[in-house]
Amino acid sequence: MTRKAAIIGGGVIGGGWAARFLLNGWDVAVFDPDPEARRKIDEVLANARRALPALYDKALPPEGNLSYHSDLHAAVAGALWVQESVPERLDLKHRVHDAITRAADAEAVIGSSTSGFRPSQLTAEGARVIVAHPFNPVYLLPLVELVGEAGHCARAAEMLHEIGMSPLTLRKEIDAHIADRLLEAVWRESLWLVKDGIATTEEIDEAIRMGFGLRWAQMGLFETYRIAGGEAGMKHFLAQFGPALQWPWTKLMDVPEFTPELVDLIAGQSEAQSGHLSIRDLERLRDDNLVGMMRALRKSGSGAGGTITAHEAALPDAASADLPVTVDRVIPQSWTDYNGHMNEAHYVEVSCQATDRFMEMIGADAAYVAAGGSYFTVENHVRYLAEMRAGGRVTVTTQVLAGAGKKMHLFHRLLMADGTLAATVETLLLHVDMATRRSAPPSTEVAGALGRFAEAHAGLPKPKGVGLAVGHRG
Ligand SMILES: NC(=O)c1ccc[n+]([C@@H]2O[C@H](COP(=O)([O-])OP(=O)(O)OC[C@H]3O[C@@H](n4cnc5c(N)ncnc54)[C@H](O)[C@@H]3O)[C@@H](O)[C@H]2O)c1
Repeated sequence: MTRKAAIIGGGVIGGGWAARFLLNGWDVAVFDPDPEARRKIDEVLANARRALPALYDKALPPEGNLSYHSDLHAAVAGALWVQESVPERLDLKHRVHDAITRAADAEAVIGSSTSGFRPSQLTAEGARVIVAHPFNPVYLLPLVELVGEAGHCARAAEMLHEIGMSPLTLRKEIDAHIADRLLEAVWRESLWLVKDGIATTEEIDEAIRMGFGLRWAQMGLFETYRIAGGEAGMKHFLAQFGPALQWPWTKLMDVPEFTPELVDLIAGQSEAQSGHLSIRDLERLRDDNLVGMMRALRKSGSGAGGTITAHEAALPDAASADLPVTVDRVIPQSWTDYNGHMNEAHYVEVSCQATDRFMEMIGADAAYVAAGGSYFTVENHVRYLAEMRAGGRVTVTTQVLAGAGKKMHLFHRLLMADGTLAATVETLLLHVDMATRRSAPPSTEVAGALGRFAEAHAGLPKPKGVGLAVGHRG
């Protein structure tokens, strides 16, 4: 049964939550008195539909149903998760949580996106709420800080995993949780650097994005510093740099006064830095970069990359009546080229994913490869038949042309959502002994599984395009 999330407050953050739930197959009910809320959420959704599916090599479940309500009770009724994302004012949060607690089902998780308030402040007037603090854009960044009653946090964590997020449950409540405490320290120092005329907003951004910003996404702070200590490790690093904290490198807890001059200085520099781009342009640039970085992290399983692969493994595989479906995914923006369609190399990449999936189906999976057997591709013939574009869905069916001895001869059909055949990839693979790197017969189990597919496909018509050389369109 489709599950329901209620989104109370649909601004930047509420819109991101709505997209995250919706694209993971949940029904989403929104309550926000702003007449512009629907338009704003549509814009966030457009960004999310473009970016989130591109993280995965499998299709996400079909989208849930999105509804808007003029009454908080109607939005909240029957929801398994209620997420409050109204402006950061305690009196407003109290009023809204009073209404949510009365309207919500007893077993519903009630989360607040608050950046700064502690759960005990939110529950002071009897509300049942935990902090579930996300990061913008909520549809792409996995982290959610959970703070509050342990049982509710545990249930929340389970559901967050199911929508591809990475919950971090705090041991104790503190103002601004963990991440915003860290960010505030960097923000405070940056404001001083601008105010004291040491650096412009652009120079500070360069200092982050050309250096430690790249390190933080993949290893964080402590693991990075452990390496910085060289072979002697963390103790050596602490001995070397610990005393520096006593030096006046930082302004510590002093905060610069937000005078109109400082506000004008920062706003003016920011305008000079990025005023030529609209916020929409900047959002898309940010999302494309995040997708690219997170996809790179998938390879090593570091940081957010591990969260994506774990979520992907839990997504269902597509099925079909006759031929196995070996790929069902969305084409990421980064796969398109200057012609505006998927670059030819990625047609091959899709077919490699199809082969990998088919190998899993016959038992030649990661464990089999680790134990010393695999198939290596020795030949590919691609026919490019139609243009595929970013955001489009592609499925691949795989037909076994031959599968005996060391040989595995496959025919992949790349199909678009409307059924158009976009490409065929005929591929010949040889089974290899990974120790000698030479061809060798597969295990009896793999040979048997491949043989069963070969037998089942033997009666199918020979696909058009098989065995053709370059230039013969068939
Ligand atoms: N912006 C961020 O980067 C960020 C990140 C993490 C958490 N947060 C937290 O998320 C919350 C929302 O922040 P935002 O940036 O999305 O703000 P926002 O101003 O973009 O959105 C707030 C929305 O709440 C709606 N609203 C106002 N009163 C309401 C009510 N009584 N009932 C329902 N909706 C109401 C507004 O119409 C608006 O659409 C805050 O608690 C903030 O601290 C923000």
